[in-house]
Amino acid sequence: MSKNYKIAVVPGDGIGKEIVPEGLRVINAVAEKHGFSIDTEEFAWGAGYYIENNEFMPENGLETLKNFDAVYFGSVGLPQVDDTLPAKDYTFKVRTGFNQYVNYRPVRTYPGVQRPLRSEKHIDFVIVRENTEGEFVQMGGQYLPDEANGMGIDTSVFTRKGIERVAHYAFKLAQKRRKKVTHITKSNTLINSLSYWDRVIAEVAQEYPDVEHEQMYIDNSTAMFVLKPEIFDVVLTTNLFGDILSDLGGAVMGSLGLGGSGNINPEKDFPSMFEPIHGSAPDIAGQNIANPYGQIWSAAIMLEHIGEAEAAKNIMDAIDKSTSEGALTVDLGGKASTSDVADAVIKNL
Ligand code: NAI
Ligand code: MG
Repeated sequence: MSKNYKIAVVPGDGIGKEIVPEGLRVINAVAEKHGFSIDTEEFAWGAGYYIENNEFMPENGLETLKNFDAVYFGSVGLPQVDDTLPAKDYTFKVRTGFNQYVNYRPVRTYPGVQRPLRSEKHIDFVIVRENTEGEFVQMGGQYLPDEANGMGIDTSVFTRKGIERVAHYAFKLAQKRRKKVTHITKSNTLINSLSYWDRVIAEVAQEYPDVEHEQMYIDNSTAMFVLKPEIFDVVLTTNLFGDILSDLGGAVMGSLGLGGSGNINPEKDFPSMFEPIHGSAPDIAGQNIANPYGQIWSAAIMLEHIGEAEAAKNIMDAIDKSTSEGALTVDLGGKASTSDVADAVIKNL
């Protein structure tokens, strides 16, 4: 009997509405080839939904998503909607509500894609970003914001449990790769929170003697991403640093539009959510020019997570073939439209 998966689809806003359907075409095509089927249900949540309903998703949104094997997501946010809301009311709600404490964000070279770096060395590493706590817990407040003596505070939270679980994930991942974890910190200045982060990671590292463990400051690591990206294998980092480093990773690949990712609940107690690393790009939305490779890569990461590794590999090979054949969008110096790229990937499956 052929396997069937239930996928919740949340295109969101802006280019999400264009690249998610193209990603779905690829998923359906690869499913047919590999003898499994996908049932999708689409949820029109996000900033557009907020304009109509005063909320980013219904109150029982998480309850609804719980019934699915995975969530295939674009991105949320629109210029006409308060931009403090999309993360708080959608993305973080799903990431924390579903214990998706790993943000898995791979960085690699794509054949045929011009990179901004001079080095021609092959790049292949994974950013493992802590995804539920750290700098993004949104604990804080504003005091007298309209007054001359106004102030705003955000508190970072680093718990032993939160650090240990993501560190174990990173070291286990490294064991399956080139056996190196570089953990990113700034404990020379954030002497309380991040020296605790360092300490707990160092304790976890002792359980993985076969994995090289290196510590690097965030400022130096941004330079190394540009100057020597080939030294990285698994980059273990905090929520904020990982957010920034993953856009840099996208740029190093050649475009933000090239990065795929997974918000992973490793225990599979809840569905995981798969989305490109970028946002809703309202500046280029509605023109069928957005680069869908990151969204398509996210589909591959999703299929691997739900147990269809061969289909995932098939997508990655088809992506490589497509970029080397020159199926490149405007951001990559090409002329292909969003749907041309999906057509090329489907043809190359
Ligand atoms: P962004 O990632 O949407 O765009 C940054 C730049 O990269 C823009 O010039 C855009 O055109 C370009 N770009 C991004 N993706 C591209 C693609 N696939 N193909 C070609 N070019 C691409 O970041 P920005 O402008 O800072 O934020 C826009 C909105 O997205 C905001 O409302 C923000 O809050 C939201 N956002 C949502 C995220 C999520 O839902 N997870 C993540 C990041 C931002
Ligand atoms: Mg980001």
